[in-house]
Amino acid sequence: MSDKATLEYNGKKYEFPVIEGTENELAIDIKTLRSVTNGMITIDPGYKNTGSCESAITFLDGEKGILRYRGYSIEELAEKADFLEVAYLLIFGELPNKEQLAKFHDDIKEESHIDEEMKKILDAFPKSAHPMGVLTSLTSALIAFNPISVNVSSEEAMYHAIVRILAKFPVLVAWTLRKKKGLPLDYGDDSLGYVENFHKMMFKRPNKEYTKNEIVIEALDKLLILHADHEQNCSTSTVRIVGSSHAGLFASLSAGIAALWGPLHGGANQAVLEMLEAIEADGGDTKKYMAKAKDKEDPFRLMGFGHRVYKNFDPRARIIKKAADGVLGDLGIEDPILEIAKGLEKEALEDKYFVDRKLYPNVDFYSGIIYRALGIPTDMFTVMFAMGRLPGWIAQWREMRLRKEPIGRPRQVYIGENERPFVSVDLR
Ligand code: CMC
Repeated sequence: MSDKATLEYNGKKYEFPVIEGTENELAIDIKTLRSVTNGMITIDPGYKNTGSCESAITFLDGEKGILRYRGYSIEELAEKADFLEVAYLLIFGELPNKEQLAKFHDDIKEESHIDEEMKKILDAFPKSAHPMGVLTSLTSALIAFNPISVNVSSEEAMYHAIVRILAKFPVLVAWTLRKKKGLPLDYGDDSLGYVENFHKMMFKRPNKEYTKNEIVIEALDKLLILHADHEQNCSTSTVRIVGSSHAGLFASLSAGIAALWGPLHGGANQAVLEMLEAIEADGGDTKKYMAKAKDKEDPFRLMGFGHRVYKNFDPRARIIKKAADGVLGDLGIEDPILEIAKGLEKEALEDKYFVDRKLYPNVDFYSGIIYRALGIPTDMFTVMFAMGRLPGWIAQWREMRLRKEPIGRPRQVYIGENERPFVSVDLR
């Protein structure tokens, strides 16, 4: 096999090295393309064929439905690890031993306090504000209260910024929910595990003792792990590109949260549940909605179906579907929405339109059903996704900075007007 690719244009041949990843993925390295061809670039809207970086964090094979964090399969991690271990693994590359994990958790606890003045910022939002908008703003606002974390470059300073955000972010997520529900803002309880503490911060009522429900904490842990990283998706690429200007970790994360919000990305989990509710309210006629999804004149898409890279089952969807059955069963909840989801899935998997386009359920198709069973309001679903994705964004930002990647700055092919003289307003 050749380790060079040849490009022929206008009678000239150019050679480019072919690089190979550890899972045998091949890429043509075109770093020198512009200089050797005198200005020629490639064009690839949506970056469907473009590798933006080399990364050692997450591997996924969309054809085979494989997802691994640092070499460990998502199935095994979801089954055997907890979220904090996975966060450590993603960020630092190896599973922590007991001492490393305890120190990591202690360092996080040390930073879990948020300046009381941040409450004023939250107070200024109307209750009706979308939680993703609130979370993006609060994450940005954290910069003002933690100037030391703004632009860090030494590994040590990076570590402090990382534990600081891992500590403060769950508080912000919990506050976002509490604001929405009209509950008093609270701080966590450092004697608890990371996920249990997060759950308590969200749901503790002022006049009631908090009691741990193992099923709920386990389900939450699993959901967070399943969302923890997904290589160069839209929000992660955003985090890396914003970070590449050395804008700082919190600013990069805030931009990532904004990117995640969109319904084609993380916002799909909210859109899925709203779609399922609408189908239920409309009499549960799944065939009608299947027809709408296939009608090119109709903007409706089957939310939670299809993926840019998975052309097979999204492995996370398989795990979440199984977990949804388990959690609802264990909590004794019968949700008609789950039946509608299963019906839609069955029809789509047998439908030529979906089969031909390799459209399978993605991570968002069943996650909302579990969130709903856990008492999380629909417009908080994407916030939960952000909470899960936090370690992945951090790991990708850290890798980008440690590899000293250049500022992200794509090119374009200009298709506008050529130079023309200015015409004053009275002559237009
Ligand atoms: N329902 C109906 N048709 C669809 C769907 C869908 N959900 N998804 C893709 N298609 C069709 C699309 O119309 C196109 O058809 P044609 O070839 O006839 O023009 C073909 O399938 C390919 O779609 P595409 O939009 O070119 O594919 P893409 O890789 O650009 O988009 C996607 C991927 C995830 C944005 C898209 O599948 C979609 O909009 N899905 C629904 C939203 C969703 O569930 N998003 C969550 C993604 S997973 C979690 C995450 O990323 O955060």
